[in-house]
Amino acid sequence: MSYTGRYPASRPRRLRQTDWLRRLTREHRLGADDLIWAIVVHDGAEDEVPVAAMPGVSRYSVRAAAAAAKRAERLGIPAIAVFPHIDAAKKDAGGREALNPDGLVCTAVRAMKDAAPGVGVMVDVALDPFTDHGHDGLLRDGRILNDETVKVLTEQALIQVNAGADIVAPSDMMDGRVGAIRAALDANGYQDALIMSYAAKYASAFYGPYREAIGSAKALQGDKRTYQMDYGNTDEALREVAMDVAEGADMLLVKPGLAYLDIVARVKAGFGLPTYAFQVSGEYAMIKAAAANGWIDEQRIVLETLTAFKRAGADGVVTYFAPYAAELLAT
Ligand code: PBG
Repeated sequence: MSYTGRYPASRPRRLRQTDWLRRLTREHRLGADDLIWAIVVHDGAEDEVPVAAMPGVSRYSVRAAAAAAKRAERLGIPAIAVFPHIDAAKKDAGGREALNPDGLVCTAVRAMKDAAPGVGVMVDVALDPFTDHGHDGLLRDGRILNDETVKVLTEQALIQVNAGADIVAPSDMMDGRVGAIRAALDANGYQDALIMSYAAKYASAFYGPYREAIGSAKALQGDKRTYQMDYGNTDEALREVAMDVAEGADMLLVKPGLAYLDIVARVKAGFGLPTYAFQVSGEYAMIKAAAANGWIDEQRIVLETLTAFKRAGADGVVTYFAPYAAELLAT
């Protein structure tokens, strides 16, 4: 901070007089390059099945996911993050469908990379879309098993990268999974596959609509507080990030987004790695609901919130608004 001016010689308002001047003095800018588009896929025939709690978001067929990749390419959106809605009949306690190399995720990844090879594809590493109990890990006697889960996640990540995923994003919050995944990728010749760690992920009510989107809401037994972080904590986030960095994370993610800008700022300042925020389903739904009632201006709120992530230090944002924002930014 070097500004030491005093009124009346200094008048901060002088710099806000006109649009050209505000543009010229703006510190943080949002561009399409900052966006990772979160999409949901399903293995049904219908190209788009609307998600009630997330107006404007649909579960895409594999074909529609490939079309989305092309759309991202046209809009200059660098990457897409894929989340699967798995048929309830394919779920079991072990989440075995997660390891199917011809399952929905791998099929969608292949179709997207075929359609738009220049668009990065990121996939979640976690078991919750695949388990009949809705947890991210293996469950025994009401407890989530850490090391046993890490073994399955490692296999899941390998299969995803083998299908063409560019970035694997462990969102499960098990201890030690980044290191185990890095070692397995390297041992299989995937030294260049990227890991974006959900390093600081909080147990949050903001994920509500997502669980409807992927069909795990009804399944989920209990909550995720024995593995996702307590929202009262900050130092714990930094310890989580430090461990993931030491284990080989290339990029870091903080989740949820808007209510956690302090964490984004501390993670970016503390580690200096590419750092992203996830504007999650609940944040999306709140904006959509208020806008639908005419209570807020959707366009302005979307650009303001996304720019807030940049101001806090994020290098980019995972968001369901990505194509909408990219279109706004292009006009
Ligand atoms: C689970 C996962 C969740 C989200 C992404 N991966 C939900 C959860 O942890 O229960 C949330 C995404 C969103 O709310 O938009 N592995």
